[in-house]
Amino acid sequence: MIWTPSSWQSMPAVQQPNYPDAGALEAALGELRRLPPLVTSWEVDALKSRLAEAQAGKRFVLQGGDCAESFADCESGLIANRLKVLLQMSLVMVHGLKMPVVRVGRIAGQYAKPRSADVETKDGLTLPCYRGDTVNRPEFTSDSRIPNPALLLEGHKRSAMTINFVRGLIDGGFADLHHPEYWDLDWVHHAPLAEQYSRRVEAITESVKFMETLAGQPIHDFNRVEFYTSHEALLLAAEAAQTRQVPRKPGWYNLSTHLPWIGLRTAAVDGAHVEYMRGIRNPIAVKLGVSMSAEWVQELCRLLNPDKEPGRLSFIHRLGAGKVESGLPKMIDAVRAAGHEVLWLCDPMHGNTQTAGNGLKTRRFDDILSEVEQSFAVHAACGSRLGGVHLELTGEDVTECLGGARDLTETDLERAYRSAVDPRLNYEQALELSLKIAAHGGHKP
Ligand code: PEP
Ligand code: CO
Repeated sequence: MIWTPSSWQSMPAVQQPNYPDAGALEAALGELRRLPPLVTSWEVDALKSRLAEAQAGKRFVLQGGDCAESFADCESGLIANRLKVLLQMSLVMVHGLKMPVVRVGRIAGQYAKPRSADVETKDGLTLPCYRGDTVNRPEFTSDSRIPNPALLLEGHKRSAMTINFVRGLIDGGFADLHHPEYWDLDWVHHAPLAEQYSRRVEAITESVKFMETLAGQPIHDFNRVEFYTSHEALLLAAEAAQTRQVPRKPGWYNLSTHLPWIGLRTAAVDGAHVEYMRGIRNPIAVKLGVSMSAEWVQELCRLLNPDKEPGRLSFIHRLGAGKVESGLPKMIDAVRAAGHEVLWLCDPMHGNTQTAGNGLKTRRFDDILSEVEQSFAVHAACGSRLGGVHLELTGEDVTECLGGARDLTETDLERAYRSAVDPRLNYEQALELSLKIAAHGGHKP
């Protein structure tokens, strides 16, 4: 079948909202097609070559952010804190792993969510489920739950504001390695792990000084970092509307984000999401879960990376701490047997979700850490390499995941549980995880 930005329409598209007003949807999509894009093809190509280097064992990928961004959280303090925690984690990883880190936020467009049921029923009333702020609103009223195409444009605006602020901070010197103190969150001085973190920061500051002394001048590469965006490419009509051709380059780019990914629920090989993603030039990722067979994984390789282009395809395995040892080797073997190579990332969040005694959705820090540790080991044992991690985290002091250095308990969860969807690591837990990952320095495939 010939690919076009709309060829996915002839395949079954799951997890799509039902917009009652087709005219309003078409008007919103027309506007999305016309508005300037959020990213450029140069950046998209640059990320692909960074990911190719990661696939070759020369970089480590840190992909992280909210499960779902919300319109209310499009606010300077929250965005800056999210960036701070990602910068701090990457600094720790660069130092420990002794290799550059590719930083990718789940940010500036991570607004649409797959759901396990299309509708929700309360007290005899059945309404469409909440699918994320860019589709409908969470309140349980029919007005809020009807998918509203105007929210697609609001999502585009808020993504643009977010990416604009992130770019401004980075270009303005916020990510300057000479000033890692800019990224300090309030906790740094009283957290259980503050000392470990500070030791690494001091070592880096010394190295920067040493290299500049050697060079006899400031090294400007230390003033800024590269930062990329990603989101789950769920709403195909909106993704297609932002899929464009650019001058002097072949093919089509999705210019709403650098790295779109296919979620577990939309990864069917004969489904619309795989059809859409196979034709765009961006680097792309697919989540792999326990239910996927070797043949499924192999078919994804063939469909999504027929030219075997390095950096094009990442597989994000999310198997759960109890299943990674038995499930991952089969996936690694399947990719190899198909004659393909991918960049392997571990999402230690989505296979480890559980319900706490008080009904809150949570994850245990120990399970998350264990899945990461086991993933390093399984890849090494299979002659493969774990090239990065995919995390749900926030720069705030939330209490959504259990455990960590402060050993959060089920009672603590009620103190600051803010996620509308999945539980995120708070900043201390996120940094703790990065310190543990950093301890894998020296690991070679
Ligand atoms: C997610 O990343 O928030 C998500 C829904 O993941 P998965 O597709 O792996 O379930
Ligand atoms: Co999630």
